[in-house]
Order: sequence, then structure tokens, then C-alpha cells
Amino acid sequence: MFKLMEGEDVQDSVTFLFENQPVSATPGMSVAAALLAADVSIFRQTPVSQSARGPFCMMGACYDCLVFVDGMNVQACMTKVRDGMKVSRVPIINKDIET
Ligand code: FES
Repeated sequence: MFKLMEGEDVQDSVTFLFENQPVSATPGMSVAAALLAADVSIFRQTPVSQSARGPFCMMGACYDCLVFVDGMNVQACMTKVRDGMKVSRVPIINKDIET
């Protein structure tokens, strides 16, 4: 679904963990781009309906790309990859929210 452009092969790479699995990426790439290139499209689920969500705007507006990075909730499209970072899906905490 999401591929690197020709000539954009990873020469110098960083490796981070997503859900405890190693993912290689080009330095300077966003976490969202790196995960999409690794065929990860579901980044989180909504708290109420548990609908799957993944990056949509890639510019910090929609918040559909929220992930945990080293224990902090961040927008994956606005966060650059770093060697050794630990990325995971945000756990569903409030699935029984009353409206
Ligand atoms: S993809 Fe929309 S905020 Fe990250």
C-alpha cells in the first residue's frame, strides 16, 4: 500500500521496535511513514467503537496515527524515528465510556 520511492532505499538506517518487532527506517523519516512502509496500517483503535485507525493526513491534524513512543502518546506522523525507540499501539482504556 505504501512504498518508498525509487532510489530511496535505506542505506543508512535506524532500527526501532514496533510491538516488540524490529523495523528499519531511513533517518529523518516519520514513525508513521516507517510503519506504513513496513506494511503496518492499523495504528490504534477508537476507545468507544474500537474501529481501526491509521494515518490519514500525515501532517498532524487528524490524530488518527496516535501511538506510544517510549511510553508517551504521540502523533506518529510528527515524530521522527530514532534508533532503539520503542513504539506500540495505544491500549484501549475507556472502551466502556458512557456518553
Ligand atoms: S496522520 Fe493525521 S495526525 Fe498523524
